[in-house]
Amino acid sequence: MALFRGNLKYSDVTAKADFLNRRQIIAGTAGLGMAPFLGGAAQAAALEFTKTDYSVDEDVTPKEAATSYNNYYEFGTDKGDPFKNAHQMKTDPWSVEIGGLVDNPGNYGLDDLLSGIALEERIYRFRCVEAWSMVVPWIGFSLSEILNKAGVQSGGKYVAFETLNRPKEMPGIGWNPRFPWPYVEGLRMDEAMHPLSMIATGMYGESLPNQNGAPLRLVVPWKYGFKSIKSIVKITVTEEEPPTTWNNLAANEYGFYSNVNPDVDHPRWSQARERVIGGGLFGKRDTPMFNGYGEDVASLYAGMDLKKNF
Ligand code: MTE
Repeated sequence: MALFRGNLKYSDVTAKADFLNRRQIIAGTAGLGMAPFLGGAAQAAALEFTKTDYSVDEDVTPKEAATSYNNYYEFGTDKGDPFKNAHQMKTDPWSVEIGGLVDNPGNYGLDDLLSGIALEERIYRFRCVEAWSMVVPWIGFSLSEILNKAGVQSGGKYVAFETLNRPKEMPGIGWNPRFPWPYVEGLRMDEAMHPLSMIATGMYGESLPNQNGAPLRLVVPWKYGFKSIKSIVKITVTEEEPPTTWNNLAANEYGFYSNVNPDVDHPRWSQARERVIGGGLFGKRDTPMFNGYGEDVASLYAGMDLKKNF
């Protein structure tokens, strides 16, 4: 549990001005009416959440970096494209279709889906398969809360996720027509039910900016970032392992599990080290097994050959 014992909270590293700004927003004095003209990141609204012990002893990535250096191919493949283009996505109204092997299937409006669920802040390490990393103060809750609401049936062995697929609002879809849209991802049921697996609705004290996956996304901190699918519109409980986008594109490079593993290199680059975003010229570090969450999740893979099941 070492990673949970750190006590650095986002509030400890947030400039006072940010907090004042947040209070102003809560008090309604910030011009929210202007938000649509200010670009993706500025549309965020302050959230109410509790602090938790989920933390790490590393510096939190500057918000400006985490919200402008993104992978969200629906808005383009350059790191700056999502920030530039994601404001075109309409996130209200939003609903999530929950189906498959569940007792309570349905098309749930966001408020309905989130009702009764308390938001909490969790500071997680986030490691992209491209060998860069961030430390992000997410706001959300365990994915299991939604799955328990849905009522997973005994035959449910996997959970499949799907992203919004709306070409008119997501220009990257048209720029990359051969990409197998919609973006899909999946987890094994025990991974999905693990308390670390999180649905995030916010980050840095505010609702998620569109480029980071508004209004709700997955965050699975011990897996490469591409498992953390954004802007979810569909959750399906399945018996079979569901297809996943990057595995469909290059099965020899991206496995279903995609656990962070410094001992299994990507065929085209090493995974032993990572570039810390916001860490400056010397911001390189060794990548720990399971991204540092081994004590909590290694048992999920007992007896499995992680070189084969990469
Ligand atoms: N989800 C969708 N729908 N489309 C994407 O292109 N990119 C993934 C993941 N989720 C992606 C996605 C990848 S490769 C990474 S590293 C993370 O989102 C990046 O999340 P961030 O931009 O919030 O850092």
